Amino acid sequence: MPGVQVPHRPPVKILAIETSCDETAVSVVSVSGTPEAMSFALLGDALYSQASKHAEFGGVYPNLAKREHQKNLVPLTVRALTEAKLFKTHSQHSSIYGTMLERVREEEFKKDIQTFLETTQKPDIDLIAVTNGPGLEPALWTGVVFAEALSRAWNITLAGIDHMEGHIVSGLVKKTESTYKVENFSFPVLGLLISGGHTEFVLMKKWFSYELVGRTKDDAVGEAYDKVARLLGLPYPGGPQVDVYARNAEARGAESGLTLPRPIIFEQSCDFSFSGLKTAVLYKLKEMGELSDQDKERVAQEFQNAVRDVLVSKTRRALTETGARALAVGGGVSANTYIRDALHHMILDEFPNLHFGYPDKTLTGDNAIMIGIAAGIRALHGRLPNEETITARGSRSLSGK
Ligand code: KG4
Ligand code: ZN
Repeated sequence: MPGVQVPHRPPVKILAIETSCDETAVSVVSVSGTPEAMSFALLGDALYSQASKHAEFGGVYPNLAKREHQKNLVPLTVRALTEAKLFKTHSQHSSIYGTMLERVREEEFKKDIQTFLETTQKPDIDLIAVTNGPGLEPALWTGVVFAEALSRAWNITLAGIDHMEGHIVSGLVKKTESTYKVENFSFPVLGLLISGGHTEFVLMKKWFSYELVGRTKDDAVGEAYDKVARLLGLPYPGGPQVDVYARNAEARGAESGLTLPRPIIFEQSCDFSFSGLKTAVLYKLKEMGELSDQDKERVAQEFQNAVRDVLVSKTRRALTETGARALAVGGGVSANTYIRDALHHMILDEFPNLHFGYPDKTLTGDNAIMIGIAAGIRALHGRLPNEETITARGSRSLSGK
């Protein structure tokens, strides 16, 4: 919901909070520059990954994610503010009224937030930004009610930010030391979002306008990685594990000697489908019987090559169909440098004038920096969402589809 507002005057200091899945993250970023040349200094950053806690369930367990977010939000906020030199305790307790915390339901979480607010001075922050979807709803709500309590107690503006917008803008900034600068590129920008919950192309003709160009009909690419990892007996999160196995095979220099399908690669659309690829892996493994580590590596290699081929081919198609002048890749799977290099080569060969936007490794997985950056870009454009109360929506979609 774009609000018609006066742009914030830089520098704008933002406290950003991300709890959409199994990473609890809090960052402080300071935005400066103009809408034509924006830059973001990272003042404080604290992230806790719950991945190992979810590993025994083979995937993210929403209620566990929520409990872990509740446990970690206060300490991570203290850490991020301390790093930003913005954390000061109160000598006198201030009064925190029930209405400030009215949407925090769990007693223990409420008590933690209350103690934190009663003993902490209002920091020098201009804006609080929180992910309000898409993601796991119980996890999202935790961040939203926490951010809302801080915003009410400190009387600081609160903005809900779309997680996928965070992933897209991550591909449009370049990091030098602890500063992220928005790069020089021209619209339209094609966003390629590849994460555990999403695989889609969105076209951005200008800031904050999104058109859906194509998406997966079934599994997200990260989900396919995670499922294939499970079939290979590798722990959650599977993407990085499959990646390592595939590279081991690649390093031996041999072809995998296996063939897996490249689903709907020749279909005249920018859509994807990955569930058939995962099923093909299942059948291939059954056919192969007892597996050595090298066999597993060959399967991982062929799977990763199939994913690479589909992503490269569909990106080529989407770029051609949309006439985009920049590509911005984002989402957890963008941590895969094998896929990054394949996309980059195709672009250098076939679209030499296109801007190739790829996230720094601090921005590939879920993090709060990207939420701060997205909020900062909106603040400088006067386009922060102006909602009275923020609603967490698990199925929120950038393009409204
Ligand atoms: O964006 P993200 O951190 O969370 C969601 O918003 O979904 O993406 C997580 C996904 C997981 O499926 C994980 O297995 C995958 O990103 N992933 C990878 C790699 N690192 C993380 N997939 C392939 N190769 C990687 N190196
Ligand atoms: Zn994500």
